[in-house]
Amino acid sequence: MTAVPTSLTLGSLRVDTPVVLAPMAGITNAAYRRLCAEQGAGLYVCEMITSRGLVEGDETTRKMLVFDELESVRSVQLYGTDPIYIGKAVEILCADYGVAHVDLNFGCPVPKVTRKGGGGALPWKRGLLGEILTSAVAAATPYDVPVTMKTRKGLDDDHLTYLDAGRIAQETGVAAIALHGRTVQQAYSGEADWDAISALVEHVEIPVLGNGDIWEAADALRMVEQTGAAGVVVGRGCLGRPWLFRDLAAAFHGEDVATLPSLGEVRSMMRRHAELLSEHMGEERGCKEFRKHVTWYLKGFSAGGELRHRLALVDSLATLDQLLEDLDPQEPFPARELGTPRGRQGAPRAKVVLPEGWLDDTDGRGAHVREDANETTGG
Ligand SMILES: Cc1cc2nc3c(=O)[nH]c(=O)nc-3n(C[C@H](O)[C@H](O)[C@H](O)COP(=O)(O)O)c2cc1C
Repeated sequence: MTAVPTSLTLGSLRVDTPVVLAPMAGITNAAYRRLCAEQGAGLYVCEMITSRGLVEGDETTRKMLVFDELESVRSVQLYGTDPIYIGKAVEILCADYGVAHVDLNFGCPVPKVTRKGGGGALPWKRGLLGEILTSAVAAATPYDVPVTMKTRKGLDDDHLTYLDAGRIAQETGVAAIALHGRTVQQAYSGEADWDAISALVEHVEIPVLGNGDIWEAADALRMVEQTGAAGVVVGRGCLGRPWLFRDLAAAFHGEDVATLPSLGEVRSMMRRHAELLSEHMGEERGCKEFRKHVTWYLKGFSAGGELRHRLALVDSLATLDQLLEDLDPQEPFPARELGTPRGRQGAPRAKVVLPEGWLDDTDGRGAHVREDANETTGG
């Protein structure tokens, strides 16, 4: 058991609580980051954007790259497979967007991404990974911006890559490595392997951030104690539960807080979320974006099917207000939900889809991996 850290240092950046909001495509936009940050300190990472989209001035990419006015630390996750595009994209993020942290995605398990050798497939090519990281760090260094990487254990149990990735990250000047304790093949199924996080901590000197299956603040403490990780990355656990960041901040500072909001308080949080989305995207799109969060907010509460259905079709803040009135504000938080998985889980993949001959060599230096400008699937 190791001592619990109370802050996190990533190069020049100090975060007051060793907690990172996991980048989640379609979720961790400016509104959601603000909502979470209102709860407690942490590092709140923007949803993934593609380096090629950024370099080529793609409209969708540009729209995703917005920050809340109160967001003093701008943190962005980049996707890319080409060292040149990645370097240029990092330069743009630092010079034009004033970001304070860049994370690189090497964990995406989506077949359409791994088929081209991107995301979770890329670390198999150790040489190419090194080139990409070197290029990113070289572009970020003049701005004193730390670069981190996020990855999985490997392609599958027979093709693990995380220990090599950690070594390469360290050698290329990456400030920290986040490990999701699953393989690409597992996607989101089964349980995250925290022993792999311990093994990576043993293997490298740079900070390791542990990721996978933190559902409550107590899980985060258990993870750092068990693995020696410098901090945690929290994804699905905070879906429909932004107050988890309040509990996490308290836990890392020695207080035992488990927020159990009544349905009335959840209602206020839902309203706040929809309002922030509307401020950032306009009311129509904001309300549309909000729809996907309804099931997560109401998980375990007794709200009826008809009301849930209408909430999932909400198209204005006024309608939302009317519908929220029908939720009983006195209903207590369903305590049986605590510690249980939420968000996507699914089944393992039969096999990991890779480019032809991908496994034949482990270097890949100079390889040309095709990169889409509008890849938005992420995790
Ligand atoms: C909806 C969704 C979108 C995701 N998008 C990304 C992404 O863009 N980049 C990334 O590195 N991981 C992404 N992930 C993976 C998460 O960042 C995280 O690694 C994973 O969910 C495991 O952590 P958890 O158990 O705390 O959820 C995504 C996960 C989900 C559920």
